[in-house]
Amino acid sequence: MTTLIRNGRIITATDDYVADIFIDGEKIIAIGKDLPANADTVIDATGKLVMPGGIDPHVHLDMPFMGTYSSDNYETGTRAALFGGTTMVIDFILQKQGHSLAEALNEWRSRSDNNCVGDYSFHMAVTDFNEETQKEIRGLIEEEGITSFKTFMAYKGALMIDDRQMIGLMEEVKKWGGFINVHATNGDMIDYLVAKHRAEGKLSPLYHYLSQPEITEAEATERFADMAHYTGCPGYIVHLTCEGALNAIRQALLRNQKVHVETCIQYLLLDASLYEMDFEGAKWVMSPPLRQKKDQETLWAGINQGIVNVVATDHCPFKWEQKLMGKEDFSKIPNGHPAIENRMELLFSEGVNKGRIGLNKYVEVSSTNAAKIFGMFPRKGTIAVDSDADIIIMDPTEKHRIAAATHHMNVDYSGYEGWELQGKIKTVLLRGKIAIDHNECKLEKGYGQFIKRSKHTNG
Ligand code: URP
Ligand code: ZN
Ligand code: ZN
Repeated sequence: MTTLIRNGRIITATDDYVADIFIDGEKIIAIGKDLPANADTVIDATGKLVMPGGIDPHVHLDMPFMGTYSSDNYETGTRAALFGGTTMVIDFILQKQGHSLAEALNEWRSRSDNNCVGDYSFHMAVTDFNEETQKEIRGLIEEEGITSFKTFMAYKGALMIDDRQMIGLMEEVKKWGGFINVHATNGDMIDYLVAKHRAEGKLSPLYHYLSQPEITEAEATERFADMAHYTGCPGYIVHLTCEGALNAIRQALLRNQKVHVETCIQYLLLDASLYEMDFEGAKWVMSPPLRQKKDQETLWAGINQGIVNVVATDHCPFKWEQKLMGKEDFSKIPNGHPAIENRMELLFSEGVNKGRIGLNKYVEVSSTNAAKIFGMFPRKGTIAVDSDADIIIMDPTEKHRIAAATHHMNVDYSGYEGWELQGKIKTVLLRGKIAIDHNECKLEKGYGQFIKRSKHTNG
């Protein structure tokens, strides 16, 4: 099966040129001007942007959390991702405290195997690091291709590990060529503030925000960076939201430390004023919470300075009836927000079209850097000969509106309802097959492959 994409404007993290792309099977086999049109399928991309498929390295599908499950499963989540131009996601396995990593891996496989439409991988969240789990780290990296280990410095009693465990895990992971992802907020401070607000009868979603002030994230980010520096373990901060936390990373970089930063689309575009809307604010109850306008400016600057490397989603959707679990108490609102389908078009419309980032930077933070950091480059994350043919074709002029009524995520509201965007992803290819064509999904569940990842390098 061969496909020719003709005359598109090809954008990678470094290049911008007009050419044809010839695909055979799953791979790109030639790129050039006026390639022969003897392909089974020919797509005319004149006037369109042709870019690498998006990679979202922070999603939670079908995940047990806060007494319920995130509402997109592996099928609905990866299909919605494809509609929005994201051809690969990295999801999180959560170890249960008192249980092994192998048990967790099996449990997650039982939900994801043969159910994904798009490609996927896992990070392993270590919530109980001990002598037994220590022995499992090498095998995960070398046999399973799971090279990134997630730690939570918050969610005490469920997911949080202490600093002693963090240091031990860092030393073990570093030994075998992996690295640590971290949810860096100070769990004890947050627990104190949550309890204080509840005792004072302050129970609306606004107090979710007020229980996680900027200092809780800045402090934990700095502490994590210090521990990573001490152990020499590479680090990756997930969902960084604010100026204080980014400044902690700036300090770490001054001492030549290797630490990567991810922010999420919502922290670039939305702010904490949304929590003033009474219970409707529950739509944006996530951790860390939305911040201030000054933090958005810091994050855009961080992207352009090359300090913020990845724009992900932390897609963790809950339907409205699930959010209602916290109607009387903000601390019971399941934390999370849907965005897997919207990230690429939001970032293009609000980022590129509004002059905040350039086209190469767009590709870098939505795809290439994730592929490099997470050990998949150049198979994923670029348009090059021998790379997987994971490609999006975008009409940069087409306008459209975000609406829960028309999106494909399994959630009955949108955090961006009514937003008008310019730039529509028209066609998506995943490993050479047309996945999305003019708003129709052409792939079945089971097409999505688990992608084994390589050890961490200097990407
Ligand atoms: O609110 C969030 N972020 N929910 C998902 C879990 C996490 O902390 O990433
Ligand atoms: Zn988190
Ligand atoms: Zn998350």
